[in-house]
Amino acid sequence: MCGIVGCFAESGCYEKLMAALVNLEYRGYDSAGVALAGEKGIAVRKKKGAVRNLFGQPLAGTAGIGHTRWATHGKPSDENAHPHTAGKFALVHNGIIENYAALRAELSARGETFSSETDSEVIVKLIAALYSGDFFAAVAAACARLKGSYAVAVLCADHPREIVCAAYKSPLVAGAGKGAVYVCSDVPALFGAVSYVCPAEDGEFLHVCGSEIVFRRADGTPVPKVFCRTEEEGGARRQGGGSYMEAEIAQIPQGISRTLACLRGCDFAPAARVLRAAGRVFTAACGTAHHAALAFGHLLSQEARIPVLCEAASEFRYGDPLIGAGDVLVAVSQSGETADTLEAVRLAKQRGAFVIAVCNAPLSTLSRLADLLLQTCAGAEVAVAATKSYNCQLLCLYYLAAQAVFFKTTRFPAWFFALEGAARACGQALESAAAAERLARRLQGARAMYFIGRGADRFTAAEGALKVREIAYVFAESCPAGELKHGTLALVEEGFPVFAVATARALLQKTVNSLAEARARGARPVLFTQYGAEAAGCGAELFPPLPSLPEPLMPLVSVIPLQWFACHFCLLRGFDPDRPRNLAKSVTVE
Ligand code: AGP
Repeated sequence: MCGIVGCFAESGCYEKLMAALVNLEYRGYDSAGVALAGEKGIAVRKKKGAVRNLFGQPLAGTAGIGHTRWATHGKPSDENAHPHTAGKFALVHNGIIENYAALRAELSARGETFSSETDSEVIVKLIAALYSGDFFAAVAAACARLKGSYAVAVLCADHPREIVCAAYKSPLVAGAGKGAVYVCSDVPALFGAVSYVCPAEDGEFLHVCGSEIVFRRADGTPVPKVFCRTEEEGGARRQGGGSYMEAEIAQIPQGISRTLACLRGCDFAPAARVLRAAGRVFTAACGTAHHAALAFGHLLSQEARIPVLCEAASEFRYGDPLIGAGDVLVAVSQSGETADTLEAVRLAKQRGAFVIAVCNAPLSTLSRLADLLLQTCAGAEVAVAATKSYNCQLLCLYYLAAQAVFFKTTRFPAWFFALEGAARACGQALESAAAAERLARRLQGARAMYFIGRGADRFTAAEGALKVREIAYVFAESCPAGELKHGTLALVEEGFPVFAVATARALLQKTVNSLAEARARGARPVLFTQYGAEAAGCGAELFPPLPSLPEPLMPLVSVIPLQWFACHFCLLRGFDPDRPRNLAKSVTVE
């Protein structure tokens, strides 16, 4: 959600802070702000809208903090933008303070006034109220009163070379680079600026004193830490004026190759052993990652005959799941910081389950919580709409499913060996970009659309619909093809687009029948399949044939034309695919 950053640098602190803030903007773009502690106190600049609104005369100082906001409490406005200030302090916050109303009432009763509607402002007011000369102690004492989740970075005018930070259930990493040290919500925002990083654990504090970073407990005692080397691998570069989303879709084959290379070096024995012996297998994930998990659940139960329960992480955590010792939870997340997924993992671990994480961020909270990490090597994903990370998640999960089959039967399923050709097939699927753009042009005026499929194709359909909703702001619904006639069909009228994904030969005719039923009611059906010749004359528009992989692997490629379609549909409708309204990349609050 929000992104926070802090920087100490003897020279160019403002510029370094702004550069990190621009990189961090995918975490929220409702407003942005910076504060620097200098000789004459703390200078603050904050504005509604994008980080670029802050560009101007550099603020002086060697220690600074910055924020990009995804609004939770209070609308996007200059007043609600961070940093918030009180007395000698300025603060940026990511998270949600659940007892903020009680704290606000308490502080108001003592005569405090508030200038924003945010929950965050109470933290800085509390720090100012508790301050008696010891900067660190005031922040620690204030944090002890907070309920909820927070990563904060605080400046104090009395200590202009220091930043005090705290993290609890919100991510925070420390980074060291040439001539500057940083604290930040995310490692990718620091790529290029730091060579070493170290994440904070829940309840830890980070104390930046000049160019030194000390991890501390609440009582101030230092916590020894090891920083690890970091370098950017596989981040997308925008081509010309293009979007990150286009660049990231184009990177799918590289991500698949890198992920496969990483999987080949992975010891699957512990995971496969627990999977084979598992009483039950659960998955927990959100959004796109949930669609990948659903495809995995389908494949694992089909191929390994292991029952799998796939749940949206936000439901898993409150659903009192039947999970316990001997069970396995597979948690899937690009960022590894999604609050709902993390809570599902914590619950599963409390109950004794084994947790396998499929994650794109090896230093993330999820990666550190898991008993076993399968890393997707998609490279940093900046566009809010997940694309290449989804294909890489599918690859990891299919690899895992194949290992489970092997440990159960001592044989790998035949399709496992075809994973070697997955990157090439994804490369061929990328060639559908122009056809997807033409389709988007033809459907530019559509105000709603359906995506249907059977078997694993229904998850690809769900992913296609999510992409259209998320970035093109057109109502798009998915349903199993056979369910269409059980209610959803009622909304179909003349010209209504219905996209069907059909990659299983055995189910092709059934899906074609569903399209025919929709067409009879005026729908405009489009079929995505590798079996075009067999569907010729079915009355649906045939999208250029999908590249062919063994059927269980087809979701790796069949989603690509849908990703292209959503991207072009969005662009043609005049929107920015990288920054959909109301959303942010990393959903670190509930
Ligand atoms: C996908 O396009 C979305 N931005 C969203 O559904 C995302 O996949 C979801 O929030 C989960 O994020 P994660 O993979 O970082 O956990």
